Amino acid sequence: MAPPPDAGTVDAGSGALPRVPAARTAPPASAPGPAPVTPTRHVAVDPAEAEEFVRLFHTENPGAGPVEPRVAAVREEIARTGTYVHTGAELEFGARVAWRSSARCIGRLYWRSLHLRDRRHVTEPDEVAAECVGHLREATRKGRIRSTITVFAPDGPSGRGPRIWNEQLIRYAGYRAGGRVLGDPRTAGFTDTARTLGWTPPSPMGRFDVLPLVLSGGGEHVKDGPQVHEIPADAVLEVPLTHPDHAWFADLDLRWHALPVISNMRLDIGGISYPAAPFNGWYMATEIAARNLADADRYDMLAEVAEAMGLDTSSDRTLWRDRAAVELTAAVQHSFDEAGVSLADHHGESRRFLRFVEKEEAAGRKCPVDWSWIVPPISGGLTPVFHRYYDEPTDTGPMFRLDDQAVARAGGCPV
Ligand code: ARG
Repeated sequence: MAPPPDAGTVDAGSGALPRVPAARTAPPASAPGPAPVTPTRHVAVDPAEAEEFVRLFHTENPGAGPVEPRVAAVREEIARTGTYVHTGAELEFGARVAWRSSARCIGRLYWRSLHLRDRRHVTEPDEVAAECVGHLREATRKGRIRSTITVFAPDGPSGRGPRIWNEQLIRYAGYRAGGRVLGDPRTAGFTDTARTLGWTPPSPMGRFDVLPLVLSGGGEHVKDGPQVHEIPADAVLEVPLTHPDHAWFADLDLRWHALPVISNMRLDIGGISYPAAPFNGWYMATEIAARNLADADRYDMLAEVAEAMGLDTSSDRTLWRDRAAVELTAAVQHSFDEAGVSLADHHGESRRFLRFVEKEEAAGRKCPVDWSWIVPPISGGLTPVFHRYYDEPTDTGPMFRLDDQAVARAGGCPV
């Protein structure tokens, strides 16, 4: 069985996130000027969707009390206001189930431990920025990473929630210069936009400059236009990369940030859509080593590593790329371990994932899985997740979704 054709050209290996084909993240060559703000899911909540969610919540949480009064109250609230307000417990459960249903995430065994920061009252861009920074600090915990989600105001009949333009809260800038990119080519469009909006890169510019947050407010702040907020350096934990056996590896001057925080997927629960709901887990080494630092359209480091290893790079058949990718992965694991930063490896995480699948089956639930995302980008067949089929991804129930507008914004194309 082969993964789909885009599997080798898209981002990420293990995250709770879609690997978006690079071509779709960049604005089209003929990108028109800023499009007018298009309302997304502003319409009234579908009562049937709300009821289905409330029933699921009560079925899985028998201690929450009788379901019928809650269903009646929700239906009444929707009839009166066009929407309803989740209880704190419903929101927490909905976010956890959205993680549990993320077909592309290998780390779902611990879905019940997702920590909720309920910030549904927040719409103002300065406050959104401060809460995003608060998320980084609370989730990082000096390296003892905690899976965390911050939920901002929803879209609703009476107004929009805020938007976070960044695809992740922490990403490195990519500066276009002379047909090349300094830094991460993936963020070149977004970096252009941040600069157009007034961001000044550090001087001199480097390969690992943390991008600012770009945020649009919700509610009465919708009209204000996007704002740029620098992230304080002490909120971003980074790990310089060294190799357990090769001293020269440190001279490559590579690093990566500890926390992957997906910030442009909307969280849909029971008919309510939260457009800004950044969430994080912790990294699996191959995401950094075999994709971010290795992909030809990212940091493209394999040739440099192979040469430093003294490998013969004259032909693919010497397997220099494969060997370099393995050593890069060893370096990432070693460096994160030394720094005391949570990081999974693809062998352990694959085993844990199959335990998750078994538990879901034992609970009588479908377990949606996207094979091409779950199988790690190196040594696929050496992990047990490779050797079987799974339930197809579904599109119902609480879910994280990536809409086209969010993709365009993260690619630097304002919508
Ligand atoms: N693959 C993405 C990246 O390299 C991160 C996706 C989320 N990953 C995770 N382990 N939760 O930045």
